[in-house]
Amino acid sequence: MVAWLTCSFSPAASAEELPAIEILATGGTIAGTAASDTQMTGYKAGALGIDTLLQAVPAIHDIAVVHGEQIANTGSESMTTDIWLKLATRCNALLANPNIKGIVITHGTDTLEETAYFLNLVVKSDKPVVLVGAMRPATAISADGPVNLLNAVKLAASPKAVGKGVLVALNDEINGARDVTKTSTENVATFKSPELGLLGYFANGEPYFYKETTRCHTKHTEFDVSGLTELPRVDIIYTHVNDDRHLIDAAVHQGAKGIVYAGSGMGSIHKDAEPGLIDAQKAGVVIVRSSRVGNGMVVASSAEWTAEHFLNGDTLNPQKARILLQLALTKTQDLDEIQRMFDTY
Ligand code: SIN
Repeated sequence: MVAWLTCSFSPAASAEELPAIEILATGGTIAGTAASDTQMTGYKAGALGIDTLLQAVPAIHDIAVVHGEQIANTGSESMTTDIWLKLATRCNALLANPNIKGIVITHGTDTLEETAYFLNLVVKSDKPVVLVGAMRPATAISADGPVNLLNAVKLAASPKAVGKGVLVALNDEINGARDVTKTSTENVATFKSPELGLLGYFANGEPYFYKETTRCHTKHTEFDVSGLTELPRVDIIYTHVNDDRHLIDAAVHQGAKGIVYAGSGMGSIHKDAEPGLIDAQKAGVVIVRSSRVGNGMVVASSAEWTAEHFLNGDTLNPQKARILLQLALTKTQDLDEIQRMFDTY
C-alpha cells in the first residue's frame, strides 16, 4: 500500500460552508498502479476508482464537498468520442445545478489537452471545469497525483476560476485548454502553453491568475453537442520528406469530412501531397493547414493554397485543429464560416 493511499479523512469545516465540487473520473496515470514504488513506466493506467483517489487526499474535504463519479477508466491514449460526449452531457447537466460550483475531471495526460479543448468549446457554463492528471502512477514514490488533485479541487472551487474557460491544473501551474499541450513524455512539468504562456500558478495551494485567453470559449461558443452520438470524421496527415498523396487518398476513401494537414514550417504542403489535397477539397472534404512545428501561427501564405480553398489553422496544434474542424462541421460546410471559427476559437 502506498503512503498517500493510507491517509484517513478528517473534515475541518462543516459541509454547509463548503462549495460542492463534482469529480468526473476517466482514468489515466493519476489512477494508475505499478508493481513497485519505483516503477514509473509500463504500469497499468486507470486501475483505481475515483473513491480510492478521493480517500487518499483527505485535505480535499477541508476545501469542498466532493462527489465522485466514474465516467470511464481508461488510458487516455484510447480516449473516444463516446466518452467526450458523455463528459460534455454530464458537465452541462451538473453545471446547470445551482448547488454545484465546479467540476474536476481526472484524466490521462496523453490526450488531456484534447479533451480540455473539446470541453472548452462545448460546455455551456461560466463555472470552473478543471482537468487534472499525473505523470507518475498512484503507487510511485513522489507521486504527483495527490497534490495535483488537491490543487484542481481548490481551483474548481475558486471564484477566481469563473469565466476563464476550461483549465488544466498540474505541477502547480494553471494553463488554458486552448493553448496547453503535453511537451515531455516523462517529466512532471510536461504541460506548457509554449510561447502563449500559462495563465497562473498555485502557491501554498492557492490559485493565482495573471492572464486569460482572448479566444471565445464555453458558454459563448456556437457549438452544441447535446443529442449528438458522433462527430464528423476528421483525419490528420503529418508531412515528412518524400510525403505524397497516399494517406490523403486513404482518408478520403475512409469517409473523412475534413483533413488537417500538419505541414512543415508555416503549414507548408509537399508538392507531391498537394494534388491529393486539391482532389479531396474538390470532393467536398474541408482542408485545414496546421503545422508540425509546435509554435507560431499558420495564416494564409501561398496564394496557390488560398486559391485551392485550404483553410488556416491559426495557432492550434494539429490535434486541436482537428477538434475545432469536427465541431465546425456539425454546423456548416461553408468555408468562410469555418475559417471564421478558426479565427474566433
Ligand atoms: C494516459 O494518458 O492515460 C497515460 C499517461 C498518463 O496519464 O500520464
